[in-house]
Amino acid sequence: MFENTTFCITTFGCQMNKHDAERLSGLMSSLGSVPVQTNAEADFSIFVTCCVREKADERLMGTVATMKNDPVRPGSPFGKRFVAIGGCIGQRDGQKLLDQLENADVVFGTHNMEALPHLLQEAIEGGMRRAELVDGRAEFHDDLPEDREHPWAAWLPITVGCNNFCTYCIVPYVRGRELSRPIEEIAQQAQAYVDAGVKEITLLGQNVNSYGRDLYGEPRFAQVLDVVSKTGVERIRFATSHPKDLTDEVIERFATLPNLMPALHLPAQSGSNRILKAMNRRYTVEHYRELIEKLRKVCPDIALSTDIIVGFPGETEEDFQATYDLVNEVGYNQVFTFIYSKREGTPAAEMQDDTPREVIQERFDRLVDLVQRNAERLNLEQNQAGVVLPVLVTGASKNDPSILAGKSPRNQTVHARVPQGMSASDFAGSIVDIRIDEAHTWYLWGTML
Ligand code: SAH
Ligand code: SF4
Ligand code: F3S
Repeated sequence: MFENTTFCITTFGCQMNKHDAERLSGLMSSLGSVPVQTNAEADFSIFVTCCVREKADERLMGTVATMKNDPVRPGSPFGKRFVAIGGCIGQRDGQKLLDQLENADVVFGTHNMEALPHLLQEAIEGGMRRAELVDGRAEFHDDLPEDREHPWAAWLPITVGCNNFCTYCIVPYVRGRELSRPIEEIAQQAQAYVDAGVKEITLLGQNVNSYGRDLYGEPRFAQVLDVVSKTGVERIRFATSHPKDLTDEVIERFATLPNLMPALHLPAQSGSNRILKAMNRRYTVEHYRELIEKLRKVCPDIALSTDIIVGFPGETEEDFQATYDLVNEVGYNQVFTFIYSKREGTPAAEMQDDTPREVIQERFDRLVDLVQRNAERLNLEQNQAGVVLPVLVTGASKNDPSILAGKSPRNQTVHARVPQGMSASDFAGSIVDIRIDEAHTWYLWGTML
């Protein structure tokens, strides 16, 4: 049924979705369908969706609606393109999506990706337009085959779901309760990746720091880092960390595990205790600052990044100023700034929200400006000209195949010219030494040694 067909996967949202997309790709490939780059060439257009903010919702609706009149691909065995929607919007909206998007054929959710083939089969054979969802699962599952985007980099989910219920956030409703994967399985999977040539493993979870609570009755993320480190993989990263569960044990691993990269994403969301409380974040800004201090003590050159929400319901100028001060004092290498977006069904959607849009936008712009200035300063300070960094090459720079792009241990983008007669792709997946010549706001420029 799927032989001689083609599929294109479009992914929105977080790393968990990127990993899910790699597994959906693996699943479709294992049935004989062939991945293609564009929807125009595809018999099956598959969307892995995100609903964390309104913009993400709008992007999906817009993209699918505009595909309505696109011609089917030449040689299509069906005379029709099938549109399948999965991921977080699929989980949230189910059947409603089929009512809203007349060219959508199939909807599935975050807990039942394996339903895609039979749903497509019913659509092909019986013209059925159907949504199939399950509420959640009792155990961790990660057993679909995967087509990894880069053979040298792997996402390794250690938990799925979230129990935190930050009041603004839809994720716990669409991803279900937190489930941890047994530590032996994580170790085995990590070893299999290393044996297959993977250089960088990124451990994934909505809150990796609470890993193990459901399985072992206590958090065991530090032990996960230990077993993954023992595989000898070159680079370990992880996302995301919740400040309330970041333990001293985990912090100390930044000093003791040579392959744990000196970079940490630690979402603060706000610098105001009043807002943190209303967000149900369950830490204070004092505690957050203490964590940063400890981290810098054990790993002075650590690159820190964070997420900040501007315009949470009831945010005053004073609250915003506290956030601004926190961002300024910590000095992040990168800050992901978001304007609060109301999500139906979350507690914050019921909170009084009367700050004018323009005021929020002005605060947002002020913060973005600060972030840029700080990133530039930090990049210059941390990367003095002449320093040599091991860079994991990801491929060619977008505009020029003779320039390579890669990542430093602190996860900064590094560019350098490749030697005459060679192309950047010759180095993809290897770690090369690059001497830094210049630091710019969002990248470093250097010379390959
Ligand atoms: N589990 C991770 C990431 C969750 S979503 C964590 O807790 O850090 C990624 C980011 O999106 C969040 O950190 C938050 O800053 C932002 N976000 C989530 N819901 C939002 C909303 N309703 N409006 C604006 N930003 C939101
Ligand atoms: Fe959302 Fe909070 Fe869970 Fe992160 S920890 S996914 S922000 S509820
Ligand atoms: Fe979006 Fe779902 Fe991730 S809502 S941020 S894709 S968990």
